[in-house]
Amino acid sequence: MTLKSEIENILNQARKDISSCKNLSDLENLKVKFLGRKSRFSELLKRIGKLSSEERPIIGKLLNKSKSEIENIIEKRRNSFENTVNNSEHTFDITMPGRPIEIGAKHPVFQVWEEIEDIFISMGFEIAEGPEIENEYNNFDALNTPEWHPARNLQDTLYLKNGMLLRTHTSPVQIRVMKNFKPPIKIISPGRCYRNDKPDASHLPVFHQFEALVVDVGITFADLKSTLDSFVKRFFGEKIRSRFRPHFFPFTEPSAEIDMLCINCHGKGCKLCKNSGWLEMGGAGMVDPAVLENVKFDSEKYTGFAFGLGIDRITMLRYGISDIRTLFKNDLRFLKQFV
Ligand code: PHE
Repeated sequence: MTLKSEIENILNQARKDISSCKNLSDLENLKVKFLGRKSRFSELLKRIGKLSSEERPIIGKLLNKSKSEIENIIEKRRNSFENTVNNSEHTFDITMPGRPIEIGAKHPVFQVWEEIEDIFISMGFEIAEGPEIENEYNNFDALNTPEWHPARNLQDTLYLKNGMLLRTHTSPVQIRVMKNFKPPIKIISPGRCYRNDKPDASHLPVFHQFEALVVDVGITFADLKSTLDSFVKRFFGEKIRSRFRPHFFPFTEPSAEIDMLCINCHGKGCKLCKNSGWLEMGGAGMVDPAVLENVKFDSEKYTGFAFGLGIDRITMLRYGISDIRTLFKNDLRFLKQFV
């Protein structure tokens, strides 16, 4: 092989290697390989003095030209790499997958809360609210709950200073509404309640309830029953009925505990309803005449019904959640299901 063709071969190889190299460090290695002190090129340059006087200028020129060509293409390749790096750092690469934007959502309990409101609004109810910090009178006395009643025990109620407390139910809103409005009254009042309960699968010291109160001339137990039944059917489906079991509440007479047909087994008996076929929902009854008199309503003229249901409980049933604590752990993996 002549010197000339050897130089051309090296040049061709360099062009090929440099254009196909993949990154800056490979490029550095190629520079050493083709132009470094131990490269064939350097060897040839060193030997140039030993060439004949005819060959020397031709080969010398060719070597210099080739060397600067290799330097050039290395430089170009380096620039192209650096530009790509710069591009991805400083400009917008539309081919890159975007960073997802996290979308928030209402908490499942509040989604259910609003759905309940919608159902009752469609039945002609209004929404009433009351404070979570209540006085003893509204939370207990006006609701015909005397001092000696177990519900007033320190164990259940979280007392604050100066006779104030964290309301233990939404029933004090009944009193507030009746003190401020005349019959006909037809309200629900959803809200947060507090009890000194140890957290377990079905209790939390903070929970959500909604109260319904209807007071007018001629309101009967049948109105109570049909209102509850309509709600349960609208919320859980046509097949679900409600039933009453006799009970006692100081502020209603007669009183009942409300069950609804198990949404899982429809009465056959399963794990969810502990084989009873029914699920406990809350309390209800006809407003005790003593309560009506406390707010200066004529209990000979007016009658009313009231009930209170747990919103957390309803949410758990809707979504098949067996432990109430799941709702309020703020675990995003759980909450993301409700987006
Ligand atoms: N306030 C009762 C409770 O929290 C529920 C209830 C409301 C019962 C209205 C009867 C009437 O347990």
